[in-house]
Amino acid sequence: MILPITAYGDPVLKKVTQDITPDYPDLKALIENMFETMYSAEGVGLAAPQVGLNIRMAVVDASPFAEDDSLPKTERDYLKKFKRVFINPIITERWGTPWGFEEGCLSLPGIHEKVFRPESILMTYYDENWEEHTDEFSGLAARVIQHEYDHLDGKVFTDHLSPLTRRMIQKRLSCIAEGRINTRYPMRFARRK
Ligand code: NI
Repeated sequence: MILPITAYGDPVLKKVTQDITPDYPDLKALIENMFETMYSAEGVGLAAPQVGLNIRMAVVDASPFAEDDSLPKTERDYLKKFKRVFINPIITERWGTPWGFEEGCLSLPGIHEKVFRPESILMTYYDENWEEHTDEFSGLAARVIQHEYDHLDGKVFTDHLSPLTRRMIQKRLSCIAEGRINTRYPMRFARRK
C-alpha cells in the first residue's frame, strides 16, 4: 500500500523519534508499505516520520546509484545490493573528511542542495528480523543513512544549509508546507490552507 508522504512543515518531521519493540503492531506490513511508497516516489530512502510515524525506523535502497558511472566499480557493485531496514539505529562514530553532495528529500519535493557529511559512520541497529548489527558504512551508503538518520532525530537536510542558502529557498519551503505544489506522489500537508 502506498502511503502519503509527510511534507515539510509537518510537526512530525521535527520530533525526535521513539525506539520500537518487536511487538510493534503490523511491523512487517509497515516495512513493506514503506518500501512500496519509497519505490513509487523514486526515492532511495524513507524514514518513518515521512509516513507520519514518530518511530525510530527507516528503509533504504541505494541501488539506483549503481547506475552512476562516475563511481568506482566496487562501490557500484556494493550499492546495487544495498537494500536495508534500520530499526532503532544509533550512529556511534562518524569520521573522514566531510564531502558535499546534492541531496533531495521526498518530503521537500523540488529542492536539491549540496550538503556536507562525514565520509564514514559506525552504526548499531536491528534489521527486519530483529537481528542486531554493528556495521561500518562509507561513501554514498553512509550519505543516505545519515540523511535518513537525521529524520529520526527531527532534522531535514535543509537544516544543514547556510543561513544564506536557507533564506534563498524559504519561499519554496513555504509553498511545500502549505501544499502549493504538484507532486508525482501522494503527500500529506499539515499546513495546507
Ligand atoms: Ni529525506
